[in-house]
Amino acid sequence: MPLTNFRTLGRSGLIVNPLALGTMTFGTPRWGSPDDVCEAIFNAYVDAGGNFVDTSDIYAGGHSEELLGRFVAQRQLRDQVVLATKFTWNASRGNPNAGGSGRKNIYRALEGSLRRLQTDYVDVYWLHAWDVVTPAEELLQTFGDLVRAGKIRYFGLSDVPAWFMTQVAVLAQAHGVPGPIAVQPEYSLTERSIEREHVPAARALGLGVVPWSPLAGGFLAGKYARQDADKGSGEGRLSGPSPLGDTKFTDQNWRVLDVLRTVAGQLDRPLPQVALAWVAAQPGVSSILLGASKVAQLRANLAALEIKLTAEQLRALDQVSTLELVHPYQIATPEVNRSIFGGHAVRGWQ
Ligand SMILES: NC(=O)c1ccc[n+]([C@@H]2O[C@H](COP(=O)([O-])OP(=O)(O)OC[C@H]3O[C@@H](n4cnc5c(N)ncnc54)[C@H](OP(=O)(O)O)[C@@H]3O)[C@@H](O)[C@H]2O)c1
Repeated sequence: MPLTNFRTLGRSGLIVNPLALGTMTFGTPRWGSPDDVCEAIFNAYVDAGGNFVDTSDIYAGGHSEELLGRFVAQRQLRDQVVLATKFTWNASRGNPNAGGSGRKNIYRALEGSLRRLQTDYVDVYWLHAWDVVTPAEELLQTFGDLVRAGKIRYFGLSDVPAWFMTQVAVLAQAHGVPGPIAVQPEYSLTERSIEREHVPAARALGLGVVPWSPLAGGFLAGKYARQDADKGSGEGRLSGPSPLGDTKFTDQNWRVLDVLRTVAGQLDRPLPQVALAWVAAQPGVSSILLGASKVAQLRANLAALEIKLTAEQLRALDQVSTLELVHPYQIATPEVNRSIFGGHAVRGWQ
């Protein structure tokens, strides 16, 4: 499957690649990349046929947006690229209206992003994270006004509970106004919780799933050794404090890595490619956000689309990383299905 195996982003007319370029590394100190490397990564992605680029007003304090805006402008690619950015995180300590999903902040944030990106519209404007307090109705009205004003083409939701995503999408459908076309959650072999609620809801509501940290911040690249991982040794983002304040070095994740290593050995492919191929094979996934600190990583990861995992390999990776069956999903088993339908195994329409 090549990068130019285009698909729509959710139930919309926006066309994107199966792999998007994430730019959280662009200009970020310690684990990010200097400007010239960012430019090489951007060029490698678009020269390979990539059209979907993702940033945020918070990455490198806005410098990621500045770099992306400059690279797009230099190559006059504004019409070709699907440019996505995000708002939520506070830009001005002490000012509660300089963060969150309220109308006042969204207008403030978007003006800043447009300036840094050197453009007058964003293709996909993401809510970066749930702010817990802003009503779904206000958010939807603000997004709709921005679509009608031509400042954004589409919008999506990142890091929100499934109930909130569903509320926003259903309100939009019921009122016949622009609704979200995609959801952007963390998703990888080490973080599968969205399979319980977000993925089924997204599929039912026509939202594309755009996973972030598909390699668990580099953990699934297999570059960390179990015996000294927690000592902060070695090279890579996870060698220092996690940007998200969590740890990937858990017993469960090391077990996942062992099975990933076995499957990668069978395929004679690098671990990160196999981890990405697993994400690409999951239901509901529209486009995976690639992260890279070096151009060689980006090139290697693009080759993940060449891999087709066998049913047995998918089963092995699924088994080691599978979610605990919690209420009410313990009834969604083949045994209970047969019991409900009088001894027959009945499949749904999807
Ligand atoms: N919405 C959100 O809340 C949110 C949160 C996080 C990210 N994102 C988006 O998702 C994108 C991807 O996230 P991510 O950067 O965390 O993705 P990731 O794929 O989990 O991690 C990428 C990191 O893994 C390492 N790596 C990647 N390919 C490699 C390879 N072939 N060999 C060895 N190491 C490799 C590199 O780090 P080192 O070289 O430092 O090891 C790279 O920076 C971001 O750029 C951003 O656009 C969104």
